[in-house]
Amino acid sequence: MEIPSASLMPENDPSTLFNTAGMQPLAPFLMGEKHPAGKRLVDAQKCVRTGDIDEVGNQWHLTFFEMLGNWSLGDYFKKEAIEMSFEFLTSKKWLGIPVEKLAVSVFAGDEDAPFDDEAFNIWKGLGIREERIYKYPKKENWWEPASAIGPCGPDTEMFYITDKPACGADCQPSCACGKYLEIWNDVFMEYNKTSDEKFEQLSQKNVDTGMGLERVTAALNGYSDNYATDLFKPIIEKIEELSGEKYSSDIDITRSMRIIADHLRAATF
Ligand code: ALA
Repeated sequence: MEIPSASLMPENDPSTLFNTAGMQPLAPFLMGEKHPAGKRLVDAQKCVRTGDIDEVGNQWHLTFFEMLGNWSLGDYFKKEAIEMSFEFLTSKKWLGIPVEKLAVSVFAGDEDAPFDDEAFNIWKGLGIREERIYKYPKKENWWEPASAIGPCGPDTEMFYITDKPACGADCQPSCACGKYLEIWNDVFMEYNKTSDEKFEQLSQKNVDTGMGLERVTAALNGYSDNYATDLFKPIIEKIEELSGEKYSSDIDITRSMRIIADHLRAATF
């Protein structure tokens, strides 16, 4: 069932000033409380993230964005979630992205949780070449709430391979050059991280996914940044009109106008 976005202001949750992820307003239901709309949900959650605010102004980072999500609250798990992601990304009925334009990453494993060979094998079985399946540690392939306690787990991320030249022989999804654009993340939430940093099994296994509306819109249109999409273009044009400056005339002006456009959207929402 489709549920509406929660407010950007978290309710009964003092951990952050704004909702930072689709999972944040759903945290009680990931912990086992029954959701009135059922166990399978979809939504588009308004989010504000400021952890990487200094990156805003480059091609892809935003403070405010809309996160498309599908949710299993103790219902389907890894196999179904990855298969549905693959179908949604590649089927001509949905986004129609060629498989050759996709790379994925899975959790490499550590002392808290094992290597996610299940996710690795599901991707391989769906036709993602082994060299396009990257294994990364917690820093890249683990999701936990901004408060660093609560429902969490390993994730598998999906990247759109842009036409940008590789930054070097070792160019890969974890590097920051922008060749690999993260468009979607499936989190397999089966742990509760306690305040003493222990990982306990949750009473139910959940799936939390996040797809950035702005990034996927840019990728589908063949653009190399968010700001070329019609989510931003009219805002940039208005800034050009008011400032009398040209957006693409100079790298500093481009960056400044992107920052203003991003912050205007964030402030408005
Ligand atoms: N909670 C995950 C994220 O925000 C989907 O990336």
